[in-house]
Amino acid sequence: MDTETSQPAIIEFIKVNKIYPPDVVALRDVSFSIKAGEMIFLTGISGAGKSTLLKLICAMEHPTKGLIDVQGRELSSITPAEMQLLRQKIGMAYQDFKLLPGLTVYQNIAMPMEVTYTPNRTIKDRINYLLDLLNLTDKKHIRAGKLSRGEQQRAALARAAANYPPILLADEPTGNLDQDNARLVMKLFDQLNRAGSTIIIATHDPLILRDYSAAQTLEIRQGELIKNDTLDN
Ligand SMILES: Nc1ncnc2c1ncn2[C@@H]1O[C@H](COP(=O)(O)OP(=O)(O)OP(=O)(O)O)[C@@H](O)[C@H]1O
Ligand SMILES: [Mg+2]
Repeated sequence: MDTETSQPAIIEFIKVNKIYPPDVVALRDVSFSIKAGEMIFLTGISGAGKSTLLKLICAMEHPTKGLIDVQGRELSSITPAEMQLLRQKIGMAYQDFKLLPGLTVYQNIAMPMEVTYTPNRTIKDRINYLLDLLNLTDKKHIRAGKLSRGEQQRAALARAAANYPPILLADEPTGNLDQDNARLVMKLFDQLNRAGSTIIIATHDPLILRDYSAAQTLEIRQGELIKNDTLDN
């Protein structure tokens, strides 16, 4: 345990507040820290602030007050160029997927790898692997806009995982999936986590919370962190 506590944080929130204009308090005084290589569950009922918290980590939203450190950098103080590099290290699977509907599944998943100049052969192998793992091989050349929601969800997860990101953020990743497909997604997370990725899974899926274990479970209620079980286990 001692060696674990001495490890530096890869993500740290210090008294973070997020108010959406004019006056929706989405997060209030949220502080926590996550160590590199941990898998974390983020729970809380609808509207609690889970998606907001994930969007703050990938700087899609900005805090109203407080500090957010990601990979040792305080987000408000980094340059746009540094931010672009940092974003390449974060795989984000959005709750509403954000796939490009006119592009095929293959093209969507290839995007983060193309941005980082991955060789075509590697891109092809990685996509074939991910599609096979997530039971999507027969949809490879279908446009994302034509997929069912569960298929879009898995395609979005494959895109987020494509680059073996050091940080993977997954927002309700099993929300549209049956149990068998949910297990495939958890298998993908487990593989990435073993390969070194730090993973945050926002979920209120009782099966996930029951059947899988995480290094920490962060629970938010009405924007406040009410449970941080790091010290409990
Ligand atoms: N862009 C926005 N503008 C204004 N209010 C917002 C915005 N996004 C979220 N909110 C509000 O902030 C609060 C937290 O929302 P958030 O989406 O983070 O919750 P959540 O825990 O992810 O919920 P769910 O489980 O339904 O996905 C809610 O009250 C929501 O209505
Ligand atoms: Mg949400």
